[in-house]
Amino acid sequence: MWADDARRMREIGLSLVRIGEFAWSRIEPEPGHFDWDWLDRAIETLASEGLSIVLCTPTATPPKWLVDQMPDMVAVDKHGRPRGFGSRRHYCFSHLGYRAESRRISTALAERYGRHPSITGWQTDNEFGCHDTVLSFSDSAAAGFRIWLQEKYRTIEALNEAWGNVFWSMEYRSFDEVDPPNLTVTEANPAHWLDYRRFASDEVVSFNREQVDILRAHSPERDITHNFMGFFTDFDHHALGRDLDVAAWDSYPLGFLEQFWFAETTKCDYARQGHPDIAAFHHDLYRGAAPSGRWAVMEQQPGPVNWARFNPAPLNGMVALWTLEAYAHGAEFVSYFRWRQAPFAQEQMHAGLLRPDSTEAEAASEAREAADALKRLGEAEAPVAPAAIVFAYEAAWVCNIQPQGETFNYLELVFDWYSALRRKGLDVDIVSPDADLSAYEMVFVPTLPILPDGFVEKLAAIKGPVLIGPRTGSKTESFSIPQDLAPGRVRDLIPVTVTRVESLRPAIEEGGEDWSVIRWCEDVQTRAKAEFSGRRKAVVFNRDRVRYVAGWPDQGLLDKLITKMAKEARVELIPMKKGLRLRRTANHIFAFNYSDAALNAAGLGSGAPVIGETIIPAAGFTVWRRR
Ligand code: GAL
Repeated sequence: MWADDARRMREIGLSLVRIGEFAWSRIEPEPGHFDWDWLDRAIETLASEGLSIVLCTPTATPPKWLVDQMPDMVAVDKHGRPRGFGSRRHYCFSHLGYRAESRRISTALAERYGRHPSITGWQTDNEFGCHDTVLSFSDSAAAGFRIWLQEKYRTIEALNEAWGNVFWSMEYRSFDEVDPPNLTVTEANPAHWLDYRRFASDEVVSFNREQVDILRAHSPERDITHNFMGFFTDFDHHALGRDLDVAAWDSYPLGFLEQFWFAETTKCDYARQGHPDIAAFHHDLYRGAAPSGRWAVMEQQPGPVNWARFNPAPLNGMVALWTLEAYAHGAEFVSYFRWRQAPFAQEQMHAGLLRPDSTEAEAASEAREAADALKRLGEAEAPVAPAAIVFAYEAAWVCNIQPQGETFNYLELVFDWYSALRRKGLDVDIVSPDADLSAYEMVFVPTLPILPDGFVEKLAAIKGPVLIGPRTGSKTESFSIPQDLAPGRVRDLIPVTVTRVESLRPAIEEGGEDWSVIRWCEDVQTRAKAEFSGRRKAVVFNRDRVRYVAGWPDQGLLDKLITKMAKEARVELIPMKKGLRLRRTANHIFAFNYSDAALNAAGLGSGAPVIGETIIPAAGFTVWRRR
């Protein structure tokens, strides 16, 4: 089938193919015995059609013989159960023997194919952390954690002091006594958890880096990438991204809508399109993940998937829309998962561009349509957006370790703020706290419980309006309440002190007629001006261009705050009709219709559209040249 496949790929308009991410048992069927023949032929077949290849290290799927050779290489879950063979991702990042195997198989592949002219890139492993695999509680992880702690704290007294281990007699006499924080009677010390999460994240980063170093040595001038996931924060993607040339991610808008926190009505409204901000949120997040700003979609949903609670089919048009939207946000490529629906094993119900019988599935013609459109548009450049949202993986860990109210979900908070900006027609960059913020007109910090050194100074230097969210500055580096209370050094920007916090069950809120704070509400002592007050207390404070919101703002309050800030920053807002989204590149303006009915986009772009019509059909898009 292969020659025919490669020809058909090229004919559809594809130019790049990712292969080999789970192929270890075929590359090395017996320990030390490599079978390269099939992979040589696969690469030559694709190359002869002019397709470039992203080759993968196969470490997400260690073969059975390897697991049998060292049974303790598997990850251990939080209940202390080893994770068995028979699917994927069954390894522990901290197992030194598996680390050596990962280097060995990566070296073998890189030596063989590193300089092949058609291999233009590498993907390390596959979706680090998928199936809840960042945290492992194995003996190897425990041993690695003790070394990590020793390097960080030097003395056990320093660790005891930092964590507050005098509480409940949790003091240790040596690093050897410290275990991972699972299997305790009630919750373990949050400082213990935070360090365990930092350690586990560092393990993923160094696992990846070992492969990157090998690939760079044997395969110069090729791009190195990894495919990150959606709505996933278990390791620090900014830290890992520093070792990559291109940050890629896997986009499954319908699956994500179904699996995550969205309201039932939203799940129904967008069942076949995905929420209009899901894909864009990740595009803008991962554009900020590698220092180069280069990013791509490594897996694009092409039809129904197999893994969500319900798996609807996208509306006709969505696959092309998602592809063009990625491009409009600056993607270097969009790769569809998968080429052909596999008739066997776990993912037999997952759609591809081809059906299992090799006839074209619905998505194939949309991929063709997208390829044609891209040819007409040329290279896209993503200009700096007017608004930046600061995003920190550590913030997600802190909120998760001690939520204090079960609905305080970091990703949801950031997504709400992002969505509010996008509904006003704004382009947004989502950046790490280390990023240069000086070029933005408006900066948003949904929450940053632990303030990194220099961050407050950076905010102070910004000329435009800044919005700082609840719980910012509420913890020290070692997960305690700062001596001068929250928001700690934020006080250099706006004189507020948080004296008490409360979390609220659904339907209890604080606010006015058309706005409220929900889920979380703070009491604040301040000399700053109260800008929004509810029935019982003030919740937004303002000093010059800095605002502090002492609770979880609903969409009504976010709308009002963004409107005020945009006015101060002289940034134009274009309120979007439901389901419509805008995005600008250096040369074009794109409008995407995520609704299931046609929408009139008159006035969004000027002149005649270069692609599409002013009335955008359901699941359609229109592009204008930018003046
Ligand atoms: C991704 C994964 C792929 C495939 C896909 C199914 O998470 O990287 O290998 O499983 O999901 O949607």
